[in-house]
Amino acid sequence: MKKFLLTGLIALCLVPVSTGKPAYKNPRLPEEKRVEDLLSRMTLAEKVMQLNQYTLGRNDNVNNIGEVVGNLPAELGSVIYFGSDPVLRNAMQKRAMEESRLGIPLIFGYDDIHGFKKVYQISLGQACSWNPALVERMCAHSAREARRSGVDWTFSPMIDVARDPRWGRMSEGYGEDPYANGIFGAASVRGYQGAGLSSQDAVAACLKHYVGYGASEAGRDYVYTEISRPTLWNVYLPPYRMSLEAGAVSLMSSFNDISGVPGSANRYTLTEILRDTWGFDGLMVSDWDAVRQLVNQGYCKDLRTASATAIKAGVDMDMMSHGYDTFLEELVESGEIPGSVLDEAVRRVLRVKFRLGLFEHPYTPESQPQERFFLPEAMQTAGELAAESMVLLKNDGVLPLRGVTRIAVVGPLAKNPSDLRGNWHAHTQPEEVDVFLDGIVREFPEAQVRYAQGCDVPAESRDGFAEAVALARDSDVVIYCMGEMQNWSGENTSRSSIALPRGQEALLEALKATGKPVVVTLTNGRALEIPRVDELADAIVETWQPGVNGASALAGILSGRINPSGKLSVTFPWATGQIPIYYDRHKSGRRGTQGVYKDITSDPLYAFGYGLSYTQYVYGEPRVVGTASLSRPFTVEVDVCNAGEVDGKEAVLWFVSDPYCSVLTRPERELKYFEKKPIAAGAVETFRFEVDPARDLGYLDAQGRYFVEPGEFHILVGDKDLKLDLR
Ligand code: BGC
Repeated sequence: MKKFLLTGLIALCLVPVSTGKPAYKNPRLPEEKRVEDLLSRMTLAEKVMQLNQYTLGRNDNVNNIGEVVGNLPAELGSVIYFGSDPVLRNAMQKRAMEESRLGIPLIFGYDDIHGFKKVYQISLGQACSWNPALVERMCAHSAREARRSGVDWTFSPMIDVARDPRWGRMSEGYGEDPYANGIFGAASVRGYQGAGLSSQDAVAACLKHYVGYGASEAGRDYVYTEISRPTLWNVYLPPYRMSLEAGAVSLMSSFNDISGVPGSANRYTLTEILRDTWGFDGLMVSDWDAVRQLVNQGYCKDLRTASATAIKAGVDMDMMSHGYDTFLEELVESGEIPGSVLDEAVRRVLRVKFRLGLFEHPYTPESQPQERFFLPEAMQTAGELAAESMVLLKNDGVLPLRGVTRIAVVGPLAKNPSDLRGNWHAHTQPEEVDVFLDGIVREFPEAQVRYAQGCDVPAESRDGFAEAVALARDSDVVIYCMGEMQNWSGENTSRSSIALPRGQEALLEALKATGKPVVVTLTNGRALEIPRVDELADAIVETWQPGVNGASALAGILSGRINPSGKLSVTFPWATGQIPIYYDRHKSGRRGTQGVYKDITSDPLYAFGYGLSYTQYVYGEPRVVGTASLSRPFTVEVDVCNAGEVDGKEAVLWFVSDPYCSVLTRPERELKYFEKKPIAAGAVETFRFEVDPARDLGYLDAQGRYFVEPGEFHILVGDKDLKLDLR
């Protein structure tokens, strides 16, 4: 602290005396002028402190053990803010504004992942809605809650392509497809930042975890990833590029070692791609302790070296490693880090603070919780998102339920508010969650709805089976709510098997043996291995972890008030041993019965894009409007008829296949566009894919250069395949 005062005094003497307010405090000046003015006034110690993030308040991430609120320096750059009201924030901000020499505001970050005080559907489920406009709306509500509670910056969206459901963090992203992650990532960014960063209704988005974290070997968290350059460019980077194009102002560097160079020390990804190729001028924060972990990963011999390596690679802010605050000053003074490297990192932190309007409005207006939480429009969005993201996986005709007067609701997820919230449940309390049982009771007012838990989630005891089976016998239908605990997915929750506990399956067998129809609902944060459930259940509804307002959505699907429209954003394997299994795989050298498993099927249980509804959609033959060529955009259309008797919404997924490519082999098919629209019973809707050959038909080489070869292409939609010869 003494050092701060001394360097502060010296700097004060060096700044030319002026009567007006300094340029950086003038909101009418261009951002860069303000940044440079402020930078020129800062001492080395002040610059270094801007590059650190500590914690403030109760830490609710069980994977990160942080220090309790201590005496945080007023010159600090950022805190992770674990509070949910503005008071503590404002008190800390007051220190930064009034006790630091230059009055630089803090930026308050938090993991507002799928909701703040009111959790929504988890991201993996959101993607099954194929409705990015709805996700954008949800993020806008979430941003409003967070910003008005004192949070300026959310560590979201996570856009890590995930193809291994053993990796618990699959729940946090938008599934296995690069394009879907990009579209939903961009929608989230627009939702979070849309109102304008300086608005009390917006937060800065943070794309994470840059990059390749989803490729964690064997689904174990934090470990090595082996990613070839073509795979990096074609699979893991596109969601980032798309979300940056939507305006994201920050990213988080990842934990994983990317083929020998960890994500938080990787100059190629952090600087050459992000800054030099894509021109990103915003902020890169490390993941929690990721700088220190460079030592554990064997890339740096100590924290001092790790800090020098990370900042030189392009990590601007150190989240909780305490390497930058401990070593950066001496590293700059000794010339081991050029001053220009430090300045560049500081510029990026300051820019985001200026963009957020923090210099003009450092404090959060102190509103009442009811002014910002559980607003009717937000609850409505939560309900719509839950409904559109649930996926009907099987239906032997039992759904929608008709003429039932006695309903048995059974299972560990039926009356279980905790696990419906998902892993990042932020400030949501269990009592704020509407449980499935209550939704079903409301939905079927004429029926007798009775409940028996049967077993808990781990299902080690069968003591409750008899009661559940007796109830089933005395009912017209059984709704059996199976699934995972919320902390079985998320960070640090890798599992070697993705099957549900054997006891839950055993209860299903017992219920089925009663001869009553059994509707299974699934609540989980990953793709599951459930062939036995598929065999026994009469119907299956995948609900994911729908948050506070999922009960009416599920009940509406059961009754037929809602026609299910979700489709899977991730492949469900038939067995864990098939992993990795994903739709956009490359072709094999041998076909037919060669190269497939000899003991089980090689097909998934439920494929990517699969999902049933209460109506039938019939796809016409896709057609080109005008002339298709490689030299200019063209349109492909398809008519989709709702041939059933109920109105619905259909998500139409457009894939491209380039069957022969002399530079690099390509996946069998690649998702390039999707759109969801309502189609009334009996009506026909035309869906259009505006093909831009410079964006949709080509591929990236190992250097990230786009190329497209003339010849045969296929546009695949529904069950149809349009072959084109493109020149
Ligand atoms: C997680 C990040 C999260 C950060 C702060 C880390 O452990 O990997 O996703 O944003 O903690 O809570």
